Amino acid sequence: MLSEDGIIFRNTEASDYAQAYRMWMDSGGIGVGSKEDSAESIARFLARNRQFCFSAFAGGRLVGIVLCGSDGRSGRFYHLIVDPEYRRRGIGHGLVSRSLEQLRKEGICGADAVIFKENPANEFWESEDFRDRTDLRYRDIQLDDRNIWVNRDRRPSEQGN
Ligand SMILES: CC(C)(COP(=O)(O)OP(=O)(O)OC[C@H]1O[C@@H](n2cnc3c(N)ncnc32)[C@H](O)[C@@H]1OP(=O)(O)O)[C@@H](O)C(=O)NCCC(=O)NCCS
Repeated sequence: MLSEDGIIFRNTEASDYAQAYRMWMDSGGIGVGSKEDSAESIARFLARNRQFCFSAFAGGRLVGIVLCGSDGRSGRFYHLIVDPEYRRRGIGHGLVSRSLEQLRKEGICGADAVIFKENPANEFWESEDFRDRTDLRYRDIQLDDRNIWVNRDRRPSEQGN
């Protein structure tokens, strides 16, 4: 797929998981769940949503990934990350814009992303025109107590997240 600045983008494959998982775990910006982010769970997600998910490579190494899924009504982004050495070169934009293009192609009218309040990545989503929905409160429910937040000790910061 299209290469910008030596970066190759293609749809995510299950074989990208090991490299992606390492990046997600090291990041304070992404909450990793022991079960929902297992290889099995991500493979299931990709089986349903692969066309919306993109990976970026430099010299054969994974340097960015975004998971995006749709239930047929709207789109949802998860676990966007770019290797710290490759940030601010447009890779995050390259990943998200490809997902948005595919959502549009499939007639999906909107998408969202859930972001830690203190995460500098909020500025990225702002630059992608994602509105800050201060009128809403985020709620969720846990259905399996075995799904533990495994990188909880990491928090987003300006450096190295
Ligand atoms: C968020 C993230 C994926 C952005 O990736 P990226 O490849 O650096 O993003 P881009 O280069 O496409 O940035 C596009 C624009 O977003 C804005 N932006 C991106 N990161 C920013 C930051 N840390 N602070 C302020 N603005 C930022 C800028 O306007 C930037 O354009 P510019 O570089 O011309 O000023 C990256 O910072 C990252 O991996 N963060 C850690 C993981 C994380 O928290 N992910 C978000 C989960 S919701």
